[in-house]
Amino acid sequence: MDRIRTNSGVLVVLDHEARIPLHRQIEISLRDSIRAGRLPRGSSLPPSRVLAADLGVSRGVVVEAYQQLTSEGYLASRAGGYTQVATGASRAAAGLQLARKTPPRIDLSYGRADVSSFPRAAWLRATRAALASAPNDLFGYLAGSGVPQLRTAIADYLNRVRGTLAEPGQIVICTGYAQGIALLVGVLAAAGARRLALEDPSSRDDALPAARAAGLEVTGIPVDHDGIRVDLLRDSGADAVVLTPSHQWPTGSVLSSGNRAAVLGWAAERGAVVIEDDYDAEYRYDRTPVGALQGLAPDQVVYAGSASKTLAPGLRLGWFVMPEHLAEPMAAAKIAADRGSPALEQLALADLIARGELDRHLRRMRPVYRRRRDALLTALAQRLPRLQPAGISAGLHLVTWLPPHLDEATVVEAAARAGVGIEGVTPYRISHPGPDGLIFGYATVNEHAIAEGVDILARVIDEL
Ligand SMILES: Cc1ncc(COP(=O)(O)O)c(C=O)c1O
Repeated sequence: MDRIRTNSGVLVVLDHEARIPLHRQIEISLRDSIRAGRLPRGSSLPPSRVLAADLGVSRGVVVEAYQQLTSEGYLASRAGGYTQVATGASRAAAGLQLARKTPPRIDLSYGRADVSSFPRAAWLRATRAALASAPNDLFGYLAGSGVPQLRTAIADYLNRVRGTLAEPGQIVICTGYAQGIALLVGVLAAAGARRLALEDPSSRDDALPAARAAGLEVTGIPVDHDGIRVDLLRDSGADAVVLTPSHQWPTGSVLSSGNRAAVLGWAAERGAVVIEDDYDAEYRYDRTPVGALQGLAPDQVVYAGSASKTLAPGLRLGWFVMPEHLAEPMAAAKIAADRGSPALEQLALADLIARGELDRHLRRMRPVYRRRRDALLTALAQRLPRLQPAGISAGLHLVTWLPPHLDEATVVEAAARAGVGIEGVTPYRISHPGPDGLIFGYATVNEHAIAEGVDILARVIDEL
């Protein structure tokens, strides 16, 4: 077998003894190189005559390999008779490289739930119970809004724990918040909404791209320590706004009572919709829980919840409590998107909630996360006292603002090189600049590693 690196840099493995025809062998080598990214998108291949000469095969053999890869979409023939790697061809390779990116040794980025504590035994019991009790029609196509047992369990749970005013009939079960918000902005656009306001900074991966895809204009409204700037929201001309009132993502501020009333007043006056992303409200450490906005104005507020922070993001289960007039269109959008979320998982979650297992799991996890948060606060106070933490009383992350002489991107990159994963605030800003800051997610890291991570970060910052 010959591994031939041709004069043009293309690597081809040829085995003249093999039963596989030569054109197939060339084809396989080129396809592998494209998939692995060794032949990048848009790069030119040598003319068939040249490659044939390099490989010591007839030109027809190379032409046949090129033709096959062109018909598969890996290569494209260009005017002038030369052949290029097609522009979409190495996307799989890029995805693989992303997936393989080595994780940092101590990962303090973002605020994920600790999935190593997922209540497997309780979930197994709930799944067994779900399977044993599921009526036959649960295995058929479902109504768009979700399994009735789960909608009832969620309504009871939210009304009890979050102070919502939710009826099972208003609830639509989605594949997490990510799908629900994408469906919702489509529903709002179809109902005539033109502009969506987002907190600035805020999450960049869900509402923002979904709104743009639905043809809505997006406007960022700055937040301060009382939550969104309602004076600016009023002037924005928005038809809907996405808020994280209980623990603003990422700054951690809580929407003040004055601002809660002002937002609802604005929505009532304008006929606008308030979307309440209640993503981490179950975790409160030093203050009494702030009730959901939806409970104050169920006709104006869409309440969005998710199992991603309470149980695990991999469950892909979320719920939207809709104002009555939007419940039908949202359920129809869900059905059009995927004919409903998997029924058995919905039934298992309903069982888990109804048996009080979700409450038990949260009672077990709150002190764990609280200890980790305390370890982070202690380490920051000792090693990085100039970084003032904010948004500490809730959730699974906090923020520290950086003094002007420290550049956020430089700190994030230097920390990554030293093995500590951390995120900056700036990538989450939509249109308004603001101070540099760091987001510390503490939920998945034990206290010892948190202290070590902050120690490394302090040394990195010292060197800067
Ligand atoms: C701000 C915010 N909203 C909502 C969610 C939940 O998203 P999903 O249910 O799609 O996992 C997250 C992630 O956990 C989040 O950070």
